[in-house]
Amino acid sequence: MEIQGTAAVISGAGSGIGRATAVALAKRGARVIVADINEAGGAETVDLVGAAGGIAIYRHCDVTRTEDLAAAFASAVDHFGRFDIAFNNAGIGGEDLFGDDSGDWQRIIDINLTAVIDATRIAVRELRKGGRGGVIVNTASMGGLLPMPVSPVYAASKAGVVNFSRSLAYLAPEARIRVNAICPSYVDTPLVHRDGNEERLEETKRMLGGILQPEDIAAGVVELVEDDSRAGAIMRVTVRGGRDYAREIRP
Ligand SMILES: NC(=O)c1ccc[n+]([C@@H]2O[C@H](COP(=O)([O-])OP(=O)(O)OC[C@H]3O[C@@H](n4cnc5c(N)ncnc54)[C@H](O)[C@@H]3O)[C@@H](O)[C@H]2O)c1
Repeated sequence: MEIQGTAAVISGAGSGIGRATAVALAKRGARVIVADINEAGGAETVDLVGAAGGIAIYRHCDVTRTEDLAAAFASAVDHFGRFDIAFNNAGIGGEDLFGDDSGDWQRIIDINLTAVIDATRIAVRELRKGGRGGVIVNTASMGGLLPMPVSPVYAASKAGVVNFSRSLAYLAPEARIRVNAICPSYVDTPLVHRDGNEERLEETKRMLGGILQPEDIAAGVVELVEDDSRAGAIMRVTVRGGRDYAREIRP
């Protein structure tokens, strides 16, 4: 899909990967709805997009609320007259499954998996209405493809996103809607600094050969949007491997 002239809705665009992707898509001519619960972060993203010569609007959206998601997708049509691209990217970590308060693991499933399913459901319906087709990219993680002993619930949520997205490849021939997922390795965003365990961060960096920047993931999203051959594709982005695609597992 040519990005110039399109309209995109990006959740979690008030920070990190979502923000970098808002700027990357806007630089290529997409107008962007910045959907987040973080109003200050959202405003900063709108300013950054503006500074890059693009157009973005902040829309308060808690992805766990169906009505917020529906309003965010509808707002693309209201403001820009069309809706073409959904980047369902909002996500959290921070579990302590066997600790005293278990770190609210249910919320990780609610935001990382249930909300991605709900957002995809609503986006597909909106794209069908538009009649032009479109692209949906869901943020999974390398933790959705590999075991993640320190964050098993996070890993489960992201594995869910991987196989959910893969299962929707059939929408491409049927409705010209391409659903793909992106699996970043470690990325330098507030998410990985939130637990304050900088020692673990350094150890992980050593193990993985470094850390990615949000712009590395944004470049992957741009590729998934532009490449019309990708549907149900699972893109990995890692320090050592760069961008590549996970192999299909044949039954
Ligand atoms: N940083 C990494 O190493 C890494 C690796 C793989 C996957 N990811 C995934 O990338 C995505 C983006 O993460 P990031 O690293 O940019 O983190 P981040 O913390 O910088 O950004 C996440 C954004 O999501 C928003 N958000 C959280 N809950 C929300 C809700 N209920 N409704 C709407 N917005 C909400 C936050 O306000 C924030 O702006 C997440 O899905 C994350 O799991 C991150």
